[in-house]
Amino acid sequence: MKRIFLGVTGASGAAYAATALRAMTDADCEVGLCVSRSGAHVISHEILRAGRQAPADPDAVVREFVTRSGAAAGQVTVLGLDDLTAPFASGSSLAPAALICPCSGSTMAAIAHGTGRNLIQRCADVMLKERRTLVLMTRETPLSLIHIENMAAVTRAGAIVMPASPGFYHHPTDVSDLVDFMVGKALDHLGVPHGLLARWGEDGGMPPPEDPTKGMR
Ligand SMILES: Cc1cc2nc3c(=O)[nH]c(=O)nc-3n(C[C@H](O)[C@H](O)[C@H](O)COP(=O)(O)O)c2cc1C
Repeated sequence: MKRIFLGVTGASGAAYAATALRAMTDADCEVGLCVSRSGAHVISHEILRAGRQAPADPDAVVREFVTRSGAAAGQVTVLGLDDLTAPFASGSSLAPAALICPCSGSTMAAIAHGTGRNLIQRCADVMLKERRTLVLMTRETPLSLIHIENMAAVTRAGAIVMPASPGFYHHPTDVSDLVDFMVGKALDHLGVPHGLLARWGEDGGMPPPEDPTKGMR
């Protein structure tokens, strides 16, 4: 069973995190899940549709997020954002890979500068110093020079920056196809098997779209 860290921060795109969590548990990974306060805010707004205000009980939001992901009981350990005693905070723990998804510009900045002020930032720091796999699924547009320079810094340090920028060559017909595409690409880098992607040139290639204009009218 592969041990993996999933950090969820306050960028738009909570659906990416939900799909990643389900795919990781489907692949029998043991997932350490840590959600930032802004991450819980975005989940509350985008998935639970609970309005624009920050949730009064972020822990309840995270519990509901895990329940809705369909993850099997016992496969997901919810870790406190301020719990720097968690195994993922130490290089001595043997977690080979971490995904931060979505990754805010704020968390990327913290990773780029090695501040390690919460468990998500610290786990990223550990992955980089131990030369393990760290994938950051960033989401912001447009990018300032600060974002771009932080992306360059984390890339030089060994992270894989994967902007949430799905392709369309697999003929997506709904939002979940776009989400699956992005998450599948991330899981490929993390070494987690999945069936989220149709692979170009394999199994007969991409299926033709039923109606290329569907969703455009
Ligand atoms: C609904 C909502 C959507 C947001 N979307 C983004 C986003 O797409 N990208 C981003 O970098 N920040 C976004 N933010 C701002 C971050 O949440 C904010 O910078 C926060 O401090 C990030 O903290 P964290 O990285 O600890 O989660 C959003 C905030 C809210 C409330």
